[in-house]
Amino acid sequence: MTVPDGLKRRDFLMKLGLLFNGIVAAILTVPIVRYIMSPVAHARAGRYDSWLSLGKLEQFPAGQTRLAVYRNPVASPWDGDTADIPCWVRNVNGQQFQVFAINCAHLGCPVRWFPQSSLFMCPCHGGVYYQDGSRASGPPERGLFQYHHRLESGELFIKAGEVPTPGSASNLTSITSELPRCV
Ligand code: FES
Repeated sequence: MTVPDGLKRRDFLMKLGLLFNGIVAAILTVPIVRYIMSPVAHARAGRYDSWLSLGKLEQFPAGQTRLAVYRNPVASPWDGDTADIPCWVRNVNGQQFQVFAINCAHLGCPVRWFPQSSLFMCPCHGGVYYQDGSRASGPPERGLFQYHHRLESGELFIKAGEVPTPGSASNLTSITSELPRCV
């Protein structure tokens, strides 16, 4: 018994379709697997434990709060400017520093520093923080998140691998507990 031509063509098209689907699935799988495995790759590379310099101490005059920017060590080359992360640096008295995440502790909007009133204010829902990062008013239930930091060789370093959020408890510090380590 011979197979009709129509059936052969149908078989051929079926196999071609399966091959095409397999190729597409393989192409889609690579970035998905890379995305899922990226935390493991970053952890293995030690990027979550990165200490980065925010600059020389002279950039942060005593008694003032200044904006600083660092490059996210967990970023990929194609992240562009989105990997440049701002933070607020407060030089308390020339010896003690605080480094605040720029994100409001409510829903993450970037807070601004107003030296005239010595307050951080959030433009989204009116959250307000005192100069030491503690909550003053508004919807945030806590103060600003702070980076671990240290002073070394005349520079200010922060532990920059994880942006401090409620989900990265290792980077949370209380408002008053952290003292800088001068080397
Ligand atoms: Fe800042 Fe809501 S995000 S008050």
